[in-house]
Formats: sequence, structure tokens, C-alpha cells
Amino acid sequence: MNPFSRIILDWYSENARDLPWRRTRDPYAVWLSEIILQQTRIVQGMAYWQRFMDRFPTVKDLADATEDEVLRLWEGLGYYSRARNLHQAARQIVALGAFPSTLGGIKELKGVGDYTAAAIGSICFDLPAAVVDGNVYRVLARHFGISTPVGTTEAKKEFTQLAQRLLPEDSPAQFNQGMMDFGALQCTPQNPACLTCPLQSSCNAFRSGRVSLLPVKKPAVQVQERRFNYIYVRCKGYTAIRKRGAGDIWQGLYEPLVTAPTAEGNYFSGRCPVLIKSGVKHQLTHRTLLTDFYLWEPETRTELPEGYIWVKETELDHYAKPRLFELLLEAL
Ligand code: ADE
Ligand code: SF4
Repeated sequence: MNPFSRIILDWYSENARDLPWRRTRDPYAVWLSEIILQQTRIVQGMAYWQRFMDRFPTVKDLADATEDEVLRLWEGLGYYSRARNLHQAARQIVALGAFPSTLGGIKELKGVGDYTAAAIGSICFDLPAAVVDGNVYRVLARHFGISTPVGTTEAKKEFTQLAQRLLPEDSPAQFNQGMMDFGALQCTPQNPACLTCPLQSSCNAFRSGRVSLLPVKKPAVQVQERRFNYIYVRCKGYTAIRKRGAGDIWQGLYEPLVTAPTAEGNYFSGRCPVLIKSGVKHQLTHRTLLTDFYLWEPETRTELPEGYIWVKETELDHYAKPRLFELLLEAL
């Protein structure tokens, strides 16, 4: 075995994090953890994973749930298409009769790409597939002194080939998870622990003083700003919400009345809302949302714009909402 891989395996045997999904090889439990961890950090991820496992102990339970319920459990993680994919993949697995056990089969699942397939395949089925996530990019870029900008197709190819070459065929699960933990605990993004690092003597970045310069990132895409208003309607214990339709990140989630920043000519003009909070910021990947929150308390349950329904305020909990709507409720 090459010295790099030997050191990663030895390091992992001493330093592996004790994570609940590492106490099982149930591919359903592992798959769930990987999908959740694409969205959040380990500590918060554990809480979500436990909630999902409690509510849906088997893939059949998840497949039998309604999409609304899955979205509700996912609430707060963002990127809701992942939750819908999760639900659809559960139905695929149930239809197959068992969790697929080949790389190709795993990749057929909705929402599963190269990274997730390699993670599940290696951890649950000992398949010799190298994972390449942010941790792996960082460790390899530094140790081997690679300055190809991360986020490019060129980098994906280069780092995948290198990781695959380094992968010890007889312990893919340990190596892959070792690389991820090593990146998370030792070779961290900021202030890596080079002075205690078992790879120090062979580390290119350490030797050449480029630790803080690697990995190289692709220049970030321009972030656009969007402004709109959220209007919370309150009438005799009822409020108005609408389920978002197909075609965007919040598909299937419920929102309050939404209007453009200029009230002219829309449903809201001529009515008397009270400003609750202005310019509430919500960051999406390529967009910054700036929202003004309003409260409007009409005397009667007037006719609502298309798609909106009246629901009891006490039952709002039953609806999956984007984070921004939760912020409005907190502001009220
Ligand atoms: N992050 C996502 N999946 C992981 C895993 N299996 N081990 C460590 N960190 C991870
Ligand atoms: Fe990472 Fe520093 Fe170790 Fe190199 S010496 S692998 S930069 S922690």
C-alpha cells in the first residue's frame, strides 16, 4: 500500500468519529445520513437523521409517507428538492425489493450522484469506489500540491482519479471515511493542525508554505439580490397560505401572501398592512432574498388570490414552510 493511504488508515483507526450511522451497515440508514450531510454539518445532521430514523425506521416507512410529511421533517435543512428526491428514491428502493448493491444500481436512485453512490457503495457493500467531497479535495490538494481550481470539471476528473488510485481495495470504507474525518478534524479549512500531522513530512503544501493557498477555488458566481414582501394575514384565528407549485427550490412548501416590492397594481394595493420587519435577509446559493414582513388583519375572510387557502393559525405547524416563513412567524 502507498504510504499516504497507510497513514490515513492508521490515523482513522485512532481518530474515527463516533457517529450513529457508523454503528450500522444498513444501506437505508447510511444513505439517509449521506443525503442529510450534504445539507448540514455533523451535529445538526445527527438530530435530523435521528428524527428520520425514529419516524421512518425502514425505507418502506419512508416510501409510505406523504411528500408533505417528508418535507415537514426536512424543514430547516433547505434545498427541498433533496427531500423530494429522498422520498421518490425510497419508493424506487421498495419497488426494487432491496437496496441496490452495485455502484450503477445505487446511482440510478433519484438524487444520488457520484459522491453518494461511492459513499454508500464503499461503506455498506465494500465496493472499491473513492469518495470525493470537499474534505477530500482539500487534503489531496494540499498534500500533493495540486492547484487546479476546485469546482471545475477538470478538477473533478483529476481528484477522482487520484483518490481512486490511492484507495486501498480491501478497505474502501475505512479509507473514504478516514479521508473525510481527516479533512474535518486534522487538515481543516482554517488553521489545519500541521504540527501534529502524520502526513507532514510528505506534505507538499507544508513544505512549500502553501497550506493557506490550497485548495484553489473557482471564482464565485455573481449573487443577485431579489426584494419582495411577505404578508401574514390574520382574521379570526385564520391565516392565508399557498402551496408552491412545480419549478423552484420551494416546490411543495407553503408560503404566506407574497407581493412585489411596489404595491401598485397588485392584490395588496389599497389595503392597510403593518410593517413588522424590513429587509430580512435570506441567503440562497446564487441569490440573496431581501424581504419585508407585514401583518394584515382584515375584518372578514375576504377573497384570496389564486391558490391561497384559509387555515387555522394553530394548525400552521402541519405545513412545511421555507425558513423565511418561519422567520416571519418568529418576528410576529
Ligand atoms: N460527511 C458526509 N458523510 C460522511 C461520512 N460518511 N463520514 C464522515 N463525514 C461525512
Ligand atoms: Fe494538511 Fe497540514 Fe497535514 Fe499537510 S501537513 S496534510 S496541510 S494538516
